[in-house]
Amino acid sequence: MIQGGNRLYGEITISGAKNAALPILCASLLTETPLNLSSVAALKDIDTTIKLLDIMGVKITRNADKVSLDASDVTSFEATYEMVKTMRASILVLGPLLARFGTARVSLPGGCAIGSRPVDLHIKGLQAMGAAIHITHGYIQASTLHLPNRRLQGARYYMDLVTVTGTENLMMAASLAQGTTILENAAKEPEVVDLADCLIKMGAKIRGAGTDVITVEGVERLSGTDHNIVCDRIEAGTYMVAAAMTGGEVKLLNVQAHLLDAVIEKLRDAGAIVTVDTETITVKGDGQLKAVNIRTAPHPAFPTDMQAQFMALNTVASGVSKVTETIFENRFMHVQEMQRLGADISIDGNTALVKGVEFLDGATVMATDLRASASLVLAGLVARGETVIERIYHLDRGYENLEAKLNALGANVKRLS
Ligand code: UD1
Repeated sequence: MIQGGNRLYGEITISGAKNAALPILCASLLTETPLNLSSVAALKDIDTTIKLLDIMGVKITRNADKVSLDASDVTSFEATYEMVKTMRASILVLGPLLARFGTARVSLPGGCAIGSRPVDLHIKGLQAMGAAIHITHGYIQASTLHLPNRRLQGARYYMDLVTVTGTENLMMAASLAQGTTILENAAKEPEVVDLADCLIKMGAKIRGAGTDVITVEGVERLSGTDHNIVCDRIEAGTYMVAAAMTGGEVKLLNVQAHLLDAVIEKLRDAGAIVTVDTETITVKGDGQLKAVNIRTAPHPAFPTDMQAQFMALNTVASGVSKVTETIFENRFMHVQEMQRLGADISIDGNTALVKGVEFLDGATVMATDLRASASLVLAGLVARGETVIERIYHLDRGYENLEAKLNALGANVKRLS
């Protein structure tokens, strides 16, 4: 429950990125020696990944933001439907399991709230490396047992869509393949780069992460290492929008501004004052915000994971804006909820037309997915009166201590259950 109207002031520390931690936790499967991670945020998706790895036999110790994983005795090579349906990113065990053990059985993810989200490119990429893959009973059954030395074989593979977890899965698989793999049209997201950095410390030979061609020279063995997870640019971006919308001033600590160029640019266009320094970003919302057009696209363009939050900003900015979603087919679930708060939004295909209104009015709304939920929190922070957001388990998947961080900045947020 949010009592709207408070300006946010102060400092908050940004957590480690969920989307970097998930593949890196799965990378522990690639080696028999311990992988020691720090800046692992306390999030539901992290708990789910740890549970999945635990079921497989990985020995895990977790202490605050530190997690150590020892995959010397893996006993199961399966991710069940129960696990994958809770979290689609469970698909990230496919590449590592297949590369190290020559076998994997991973449930196909079904549809999800933001679109159909197939994993065909993960599968085709592994097939290009020689894997035998059969889809039976809703499961991806993959094997390398017919290949020389039972190892995946390096290959050139062009992904005809930019896929973040697809690139990560294939990069992990290629690290232990025989020969060189060239991944073309690879995702350039900072989380892909963080995974590559960790894999390189583990002994992988990877070049080009952060560009659209990644070259991986397979090695026979990887070993554990220590790695600190990169900051969560989406968490950071969400608080930056909160500062701008409430007309406050917030300094983010432990953040790398260069990962947020597109977001910072849009906030400045909207009239916020953004100051960047080494590992800090300060956002000051000065008076009335201006509506800004948004078009999502793969990194370094504007991230789809910040689309809903900027939609919230536009609902109370002056002017009319267009928000175009190009990555996911059904990522406007927050629109109907924002309309319940008094927002003026109409949807035409993959574009939302947002006419800024003078004020939103608190109401009860329903969270539908992670970033949609965040956008409702932002709307609630500026709405008049009380906003109650239901199904906040979505928020716990990706925002560490959300209400504590917001309240520390002066918001009035209570968790009711
Ligand atoms: C990742 C992020 C998610 C973010 C998204 C886009 C994680 C854990 N999640 O999701 O927060 O919103 O990137 O930046 O890192 N596609 C296919 N076939 C495939 C794979 C993808 O058609 O095999 C399509 C998807 O349906 C989607 C687009 O490609 O339309 C991009 O999806 P992708 O980058 O794979 O998203 P995720 O990796 O699932």
